[in-house]
Amino acid sequence: MSKNNINDIWRVWESSVQYGEMLYNRAIGQAPEMESSKAVAKALVGIIQPGSRVLDVGCGAGHYLRSLRKQYKFQFSYFGIDATMPYIELAKKAFEHDADALFQVDDIYNLSLTDQSFDIVLCNNLLLHLPSIVQPIRELWRVTGSTLLIRSMVGENSFRIQQIPEWEQNIQEDTKISEKDPLFDENGEALRFHYFNIYSSAYIEWCFQNLRGVENLHIWPDQDFSNDAFSTDDWPEYDKPKNITKVIAGLQVNGYILEPWAFIRADRRRI
Ligand SMILES: C[S@@+](CC[C@H](N)C(=O)[O-])C[C@H]1O[C@@H](n2cnc3c(N)ncnc32)[C@H](O)[C@@H]1O
Repeated sequence: MSKNNINDIWRVWESSVQYGEMLYNRAIGQAPEMESSKAVAKALVGIIQPGSRVLDVGCGAGHYLRSLRKQYKFQFSYFGIDATMPYIELAKKAFEHDADALFQVDDIYNLSLTDQSFDIVLCNNLLLHLPSIVQPIRELWRVTGSTLLIRSMVGENSFRIQQIPEWEQNIQEDTKISEKDPLFDENGEALRFHYFNIYSSAYIEWCFQNLRGVENLHIWPDQDFSNDAFSTDDWPEYDKPKNITKVIAGLQVNGYILEPWAFIRADRRRI
């Protein structure tokens, strides 16, 4: 990515080595499973079957596969794709002994996969970080043979949220932001940011309305997490995440933002 390309300013993963290592540690069982990966595994009860072909878009180091293998002892294949090459390398290393797991670099805006080639398509915690979701949802649906399951933030209203890294913080490790650097341009636009967008359920429904073969579009809150899960007590000091999620009034909180985590599920009509 060119840092000067304004269209890519929201892409923060490319050089986030530390985040990749955290995902890798989860994938190999050295760090706890994410609550959301346990929730996804549970949400697939009755959907995933022996022989299922599962695609995970934005798979990181493939750590959701760990939860899936733990819960489902039968054979199914898993294809993880992610736009960030180093994460895909880590995923390949983490699952090198899993003959039914494959990983590839690919982009949700333009998937290099054929129509309906996977029974189950997963996309967890990615849509909220993208600048737009119409094309990504179209692509996810295009490759779905049977069930699409997305986890993102969905509420009554849409909010477009940019998290701006403060001075001396960096969302990209090779970008030290010193006090000499402006955070915003002359028009007030952020020069570096990370999206945490919330979409209204009505907008999500609108994104699906013209897609062919959608049946049972269902959106429900993901409240499948333990309040204790976000404690860092068990993490080794060197690996402790700094901005750990908190829980207030039953909702996960990131900084100042109450996160309306939700699952979006769509099934393909059988003909
Ligand atoms: C917040 S992480 C979520 C990782 C994992 N699914 C999870 O829930 O822990 C977002 C992931 O999406 C990947 N990603 C970002 N933009 C992408 C794109 N355009 N296409 C595919 N993957 C992308 C990032 O590299 C990163 O691994």
